[in-house]
This record gives sequence, C-alpha cells and structure tokens, in this order.
Amino acid sequence: MPNKDTEALPDLQFEREQLLEEQVIASFDGAPDDRTRYLLQSLVHHLHGFVREVRLTSREWDTAIMFLTEVGHITTDWRQEFILLSDVLGISMQTIGVNSPSSASTTEATVFGPFFVSDAPLIELGGDIGEGGKGEPCWVSGSVRGPDGTPVRNARIEVWEADDDGMYDVQRDGGQTYGRAHLFSDDAGEYRFWGLTPTPYPIPHDGPVGRLLEMVDRSPYRASHLHFMVTAEDYRPLVTHIFVDGDPYLATDSVFGVKESLVKTFVHHPAGTPTPDGREIPTSWSEVRFDIVLASLA
Ligand code: BEZ
Ligand code: FE
Repeated sequence: MPNKDTEALPDLQFEREQLLEEQVIASFDGAPDDRTRYLLQSLVHHLHGFVREVRLTSREWDTAIMFLTEVGHITTDWRQEFILLSDVLGISMQTIGVNSPSSASTTEATVFGPFFVSDAPLIELGGDIGEGGKGEPCWVSGSVRGPDGTPVRNARIEVWEADDDGMYDVQRDGGQTYGRAHLFSDDAGEYRFWGLTPTPYPIPHDGPVGRLLEMVDRSPYRASHLHFMVTAEDYRPLVTHIFVDGDPYLATDSVFGVKESLVKTFVHHPAGTPTPDGREIPTSWSEVRFDIVLASLA
C-alpha cells in the first residue's frame, strides 16, 4: 500500500496539520455524553489521518462529495445505497464481527441484506417457502441448539432467498410473495422446510455503488445463499446465511459475507429420487442440513 510518510513533511507543514487535527478533536471535549465524545474524536482522528496520509487533493475530495451526494439521491425507503456502500466496503461485516461473540461453538453471523420482510407467511414444519418462485426444490433441515447442546424449542426461524433468476419477490412488480416464510422449531429443536436451491445473483448495481465496483474491476455478484434469522427466548438473535459449497463466488462475495463455517454441502438428487417427506418431485432436487447454535444472552 503506497504511503506518503507525514513524518517526512517539513516541520512547519506537519505542525500545522497536527494543530488543526488537535483543534477539531478538542472541539468535542465538552460533549456531555462520553461515548458520543469518544466516537467523534476518534472519527476525526482517523479521517484527518487519512487525508494527511494520502495527501488528498481538493479535486479528489470534491469527487468523494459528489459520489456521496449521488448515494443520498438514489436512497429511498426501498433502496438503501448507504448500506450497500457499507456492505461493499466491508464495514457491515466488520461491525457484525465486532459485535458477535467470538466463540467457535456458536453459529457465525453475516450480513442482513436489503430483502428481509417482517410479515413473511407462517409455514408448518416441512412446508414450502419456494411456492411460486422459479428454481430447483431444496429440502432444508437442521436443529437449533444452545451452546451446551440443549435443543431450543419454538425458535422463530425466518428464511428468505432469491429465485433462480436471482430476483427476490420484493424486486418484482405485482406484489407476489415467494422465497420467504417463518416457521418454528419443534420440541426437539428440529426444523425442516422446502426452499429453492440458491443461485448466485448481483447486488443492486445500477447506482453509484455499482459504478464504484465497475471502476475498480470488482464483481457485484454474491455467492449463492439462503438467509436465516433465528430468535428465541434467552438467546442472542442470529442473522446469518448458508452458502453453497463449490459456488464460483465464494472467494469474491461482493459484501464479504462468506464464512467458511457457513458453507454447506448441498446434495443433488436426480428427478424421481424419493424425498425425505415422501413427496413426488418431477424434477431434480437438492438437500442441505444446517445445525444452528445460538449464543446465550450474556
Ligand atoms: C443480499 O443478500 O441479498 C444482499 C446483501 C447485501 C447487499 C445487497 C444484497
Ligand atoms: Fe441475499
């Protein structure tokens, strides 16, 4: 990483830059809330450090302001370009990591994404979330447990995914619902449902964030995944996905959401293979198991 050493600046120049940074930091000394003061002073320190280190030109700063202005202009209740920017810069995943328990025994969290809907239909265990969505059926099953192995009964499991055109229902006109539902784990902490075998799709890339990715030769594609949000009394809520082993985008997921522990083997079956619930399926289908371990509320 090229780095212009600010220490190599003439003394007077270095002192002036340092003085300004210190003045701005000191301007927050009177903030009554300790955390607010700490956040703002640290932010100023890092931002000034960045400007000084890269020797930012006025033109570059103008370009950045124009870019952020465009990010603001395209943002609506439905299109949150600032979150997308945070996602592609890895800030969303870094924030999730900083706030997640670093225990090897609990299921890792990953990005929420923009396509969750809070009133997805309730399905019975073994029900179908894919109904009406295009794609290969996928039998998903697993358990929900606490860190000590205790089965978690009645955990609320929200699941959502794109169809095999890479489209979530909310991205289509017409108001149809497919590829999403909620269900509850049974008394043994087990769950099961039919979904669609996940396929890769790009994040929304028709705005300034998409242009940024194109400019730096980065793909907007996300590795194929199925979203989960699991909540249960006495446990920390978990937002995560499972990813498909062998997917071509695992190493370059555009929002850095892939964790090795979340990559699962999807077993593929030809048409006519009996299904675990005795269904007759005229096409090929797949199955995957995802055992979830929730962290206790500390
Ligand atoms: C998604 O998983 O759908 C997603 C996540 C982050 C940004 C855009 C899309
Ligand atoms: Fe997604």
